[in-house]
Amino acid sequence: MNDSSTRPRPAGIFTLAGRPAARVGYGMGQLTRKSESAENYTGAIALLRHALDLGINHFDTAQFYGNGLANRLLRDALGGHREEILIATKAGAAPVPGAPIPLTAAQKPHELRAAIEANLATLETDWIDVVNLRRMDYRPGLIADGDQIVPFEDQLAEMITLRDEGKILGIGLSHITAEQLRVALPAGITCVQNIYNMLDRSFEPLLDESRERNIAWVPYFPLGGGGYAGLPKVTDDPTVQDVAERLDATATQVGLAWQLTHAPNTMLIPGTSSIEHLKENIAAGDITLDHDTMRTLDRVTSSQNDPTRNPV
Ligand SMILES: NC(=O)c1ccc[n+]([C@@H]2O[C@H](COP(=O)([O-])OP(=O)(O)OC[C@H]3O[C@@H](n4cnc5c(N)ncnc54)[C@H](OP(=O)(O)O)[C@@H]3O)[C@@H](O)[C@H]2O)c1
Repeated sequence: MNDSSTRPRPAGIFTLAGRPAARVGYGMGQLTRKSESAENYTGAIALLRHALDLGINHFDTAQFYGNGLANRLLRDALGGHREEILIATKAGAAPVPGAPIPLTAAQKPHELRAAIEANLATLETDWIDVVNLRRMDYRPGLIADGDQIVPFEDQLAEMITLRDEGKILGIGLSHITAEQLRVALPAGITCVQNIYNMLDRSFEPLLDESRERNIAWVPYFPLGGGGYAGLPKVTDDPTVQDVAERLDATATQVGLAWQLTHAPNTMLIPGTSSIEHLKENIAAGDITLDHDTMRTLDRVTSSQNDPTRNPV
């Protein structure tokens, strides 16, 4: 698999599953929620092609985003560029179409395999660059119970087998603890995807550990989830807004630029359904935050920070 493109990569590159990926990528979660009509589907396809034209080559998806809709969008928009893009997906949940929460835990090893097979089929690809093993040990999100409480080691063994079979190139871990990362290290871990943004730094120790080991840190809800999950939005913070005004940037850009500057292994996957927002997010990679501004932003915190999320 060669990346033959000479497109400039937003915010430069970091290595993911052995391949160079733009540090500003794209997350499919929100787009899927807004793309169910045929008209919106066409708009979403255009947005994804625009993202590629602007240098984004890392797309984060899941079969359970819209019961395959996110993967169909990726296939239809970018299937002709499969060698150029990196697709990261998730295993650990299965779609439940029409349910108020349209997914359920699917943590057992054979369910991880089924999730990966479903992704391969919908994406119409022979390989997936990264699969994040999505655990369900704490909130936000579903918590595994009953026979869905599965030993981490058993899941990891199945992921390694899937990698040996060539179905996946890299193993990622999502919604994990620092202890789980340490257990998984001998397997070779490509990335960690936990909730993290300027207002929620519960996982700072896990970020530190990933940085020390040169493992990509791919925070989910990098802007706070856009209000969708009821979490505070980075863009509502008055300090972020002040800095944005001073730099003639937007609050979103300040929130993203802070993450890129804070840790060199950070790879962002903000989700957006707007081409203007997409361009803005890409341009965040060009913003320089000086030392004093970084210290000011470092002091921004939220009362929602939850240290119990990360039982190190
Ligand atoms: N592993 C996991 O458990 C997990 C969980 C959740 C999400 N994820 C992944 O993480 C990705 C990112 O999370 P997310 O998309 O839910 O949350 P997010 O990136 O924190 O926030 C997305 C929200 O921000 C808005 N937004 C984006 N760019 C903007 C801009 N420049 N100006 C103003 N508003 C802007 C979007 O609205 P507009 O459409 O209006 O721009 C959207 O509502 C997801 O797409 C998904 O791939 C993973």
